[in-house]
Amino acid sequence: MAFEYKDTPGDTEWFVHDRFGMFIHWGVYAAAGRHEWVKKYEAIPDEEYQKYFDHFDPDLYDPVVWAKLAKEAGMKYFVITTKHHDGCCMFDNPLTDWKVTNGPAGRDLIAPMVEAFRNEGLKVGFYHSLIDWTHPEYTIDGHHPLCDDEEYVKANQDRDWDKYVEYLHGSVCYLLTNYGKVDYLFFDYSYSQMPAKGLLAAGKGKDDWHSEELIALCRELQPGIIINDRTEIPQDLSTPEQVQPAEPLRNEDGKLLVWESCQTFSGSWGYFRDQLDWKSPELIIKMLIDGVSKGGNMLFNVGPNGRGEIEPRAVERLKAVGEWFRVNGRSIYGCGPSEFTPPTDGRFTQNAAGDRLYLHMFSWPFKHIYIPGMADRVEYAQLLDDGSETKIMPAAKVSHGHNQVDENTLVLEIPVQKPAVMVPVIELFLKQ
Ligand code: GLC
Repeated sequence: MAFEYKDTPGDTEWFVHDRFGMFIHWGVYAAAGRHEWVKKYEAIPDEEYQKYFDHFDPDLYDPVVWAKLAKEAGMKYFVITTKHHDGCCMFDNPLTDWKVTNGPAGRDLIAPMVEAFRNEGLKVGFYHSLIDWTHPEYTIDGHHPLCDDEEYVKANQDRDWDKYVEYLHGSVCYLLTNYGKVDYLFFDYSYSQMPAKGLLAAGKGKDDWHSEELIALCRELQPGIIINDRTEIPQDLSTPEQVQPAEPLRNEDGKLLVWESCQTFSGSWGYFRDQLDWKSPELIIKMLIDGVSKGGNMLFNVGPNGRGEIEPRAVERLKAVGEWFRVNGRSIYGCGPSEFTPPTDGRFTQNAAGDRLYLHMFSWPFKHIYIPGMADRVEYAQLLDDGSETKIMPAAKVSHGHNQVDENTLVLEIPVQKPAVMVPVIELFLKQ
């Protein structure tokens, strides 16, 4: 094995192989079209938020289309918001009335999605919010949408937290019992460092969620499931959000930790009509490569709209990402960090067997790529997109007056024209 991960309670083998997943933030907030936190950001009381529930009518929803798009983009698993912080369940949760089955959607929206993605061969992940801004027993803290409304806070001091915990565990139990095999559970999130203030309760964390029992419940119902770190008890993987870690994450023994960065197109997770700062397909591909070169996955988000469609801005970009994957996928799937140091503007990934190294070039230099210390290591090199040889030049041959190249430096001769893919990959077959 070229790279080795620290052992975890669940089985992450498929996860570190698959590398690329689709995050889906979909809920009644899509009807507002202004972020999934709109209830908090605009301090919207329940009575007023109701209008989004009443107008969330996903008449164009076809999860088969979503699943095919994810697959075409190169994604191997998906994670869907079963409930976000607004508390509204996207599934037919028998423990509440605050669910889309009671609105214009009139049905469990999760079940057909699970079926569609599974049919396309993708693994199934559920996002479930620990936080709940609507449940009548969720104690009011500084995150609550109405935390600045003194009257409201005063009137809601007698909430029974145990009842919420029972609801949370019961909902998770339902999700892990009624949808077949669930491969991944993404809990969101803990904030126990937030202090209590006046009548506002402190933030919540592992003791509040009864995280140990919650995790035990998940493992009992779905052996082999993998669970993220946001219950405040580290489990199988960590989930850096909208950030690219600078280095591979390791434990004290130097073993790699499993991680997955979650990323968005434009900053918001839920559908945001007027947010215009969209990432290009090239940037998305580079973020993915950079992550894999550091041992991480990328969970890339779409926020379908209130009619149930993934908007053209997203579709167009995901298709471009998929076109890159079609020819370059083998530098990502089953690959991880390499012990070798890449040249300027390059990122290395290496396959698990350790005999192939993939050089991803974030810019295309003129004529030669120089890789110090690797002259003796490579048997053959080719451009991955068309399988054409990239000549290995003896350092002496390119050394002359103004350009003295160390004999231990691997020199690759490349075409002047950058290959016609967004990020070119050179596949290096290592000497064994
Ligand atoms: C968060 C946010 C959220 C989003 C998520 C994705 O912590 O509260 O809206 O769902 O992380 O990682």
